[in-house]
Amino acid sequence: MEHVSKRFGDFYANKDINLTVYKGEVLTLLGENGAGKSTLMNVLIGLYQPTEGSIYLNGKKVRIDSPAQAVKLGIGMVHQHFMLVEAMTVFENIILGDRNTRGLFIDREARKKEILELSARYGLDVELDRPITEIAVGAQQRVEILKALYRGAELLVLDEPSAALTDIEVEGLFKIMRKLTEEGKSVIFISHKMREVMHISDRITILRAGEVVTTLRREETDGQALANLMIGRELQGDYFRSDYDGSHSGEVLLDGKNIVTIRERDIAAFRRDHLGFVFQDFNLLDTFSLRDNIFLPLVLAGKDYEFMDARLRPLAKQLGISDILEKYPYEVSGGQKQRCAAARALITEPQIVLADEPTGALDSRSSDGLLELFGEINRDGQTILMVTHSVKAASHAGRVLFLRDGQVYHQLYRGGETQESQFRRISDTLTVLSQGGESHA
Ligand SMILES: Nc1ncnc2c1ncn2[C@@H]1O[C@H](COP(=O)(O)OP(=O)(O)OP(=O)(O)O)[C@@H](O)[C@H]1O
Ligand SMILES: [Mg+2]
Repeated sequence: MEHVSKRFGDFYANKDINLTVYKGEVLTLLGENGAGKSTLMNVLIGLYQPTEGSIYLNGKKVRIDSPAQAVKLGIGMVHQHFMLVEAMTVFENIILGDRNTRGLFIDREARKKEILELSARYGLDVELDRPITEIAVGAQQRVEILKALYRGAELLVLDEPSAALTDIEVEGLFKIMRKLTEEGKSVIFISHKMREVMHISDRITILRAGEVVTTLRREETDGQALANLMIGRELQGDYFRSDYDGSHSGEVLLDGKNIVTIRERDIAAFRRDHLGFVFQDFNLLDTFSLRDNIFLPLVLAGKDYEFMDARLRPLAKQLGISDILEKYPYEVSGGQKQRCAAARALITEPQIVLADEPTGALDSRSSDGLLELFGEINRDGQTILMVTHSVKAASHAGRVLFLRDGQVYHQLYRGGETQESQFRRISDTLTVLSQGGESHA
């Protein structure tokens, strides 16, 4: 990509970007939330037209008007939020819209055979006849990759592919990436997890505020240097807190009341009065501004604007979303959406916050911010029930339950220890559990 800019209104999401990816390499795009990573890749796959600049493929200038055009040129992308059709099976999703399978006479068995060969070659284990809704997130991702390869991708863009994966699934993903590059294909990997970046990249291009800071070979840098380049200043201190008192509360019963038996017609009111949800896929409404999305639960509870505004102000500041509240969900990055989803859950000051992978799309600064906020409201008496794959997020918890095969397999309590030692205990436990198969924390 040469001198590529992408402007929304008068805001440059990408500014004069030069980016090269070679055959057979993993190029990482590294940058904080909102740095412009997804936008740049959306330009590359023809979802957006660049405001300025050109794209070259094998030395030849190309125009990429649409994702279909990108596919023809051998460029595929697995988006930050998957684009699978939930009502269909794995197989149907893979062949959906493929030019060879249009028309009435699809030879399903021949296609299946072809897909199975491809999946075996790259270790992309999937069950073709399962509905998408029945398979785990890691498997859905393999379907997305398979779909891109089935369409002949030579350059594969993976936008935050590890966000919702377990450590073992990430290992699997890296194996797939290595296999692809061994065969001369190229991978653009988007991540803000330094450990992963240092592990898998050949080269790393750092984006900050829409511009390329620099591109480095992995051997010539380290995680600390990358983090500093990414945020544009020296990172200070570490992220471990030691002031947590280890208190915890909340069992199956809520204040002695069995909530399973709540009558259907009382459920909505119960949720409104007691619970805040941070959904994994954010659940923001595209037709409302982010501010209105966040206000929604309070509007439903009949609060006036002043009340809502007073609640939102400090929350927005702490979550770093004050400047984007007038925007719409489709105008902001994955990390920004996730922080707004958190604000919407917290604004009612619920007794219990249920948070599904609340840091999945966040860079380390934002996830520190959110976890700190969770810590504060927790000390104020609110309970947080979080589902996470992140050992760091889990290390903030007073209690960690490890689930496997639908059962609680292990439980760790925090007994006055530091967060750092809790972090180590959780990693160690995960390692032990994972030796017996797939594990989820
Ligand atoms: N359609 C749009 N209209 C207006 N602004 C947009 C649009 N899409 C993205 N932006 C803005 O451009 C900036 C870059 O967004 P982008 O999604 O590329 O970030 P990102 O680096 O992928 O971040 P994240 O790590 O959070 O996914 C953000 O400030 C975002 O609000
Ligand atoms: Mg993004």
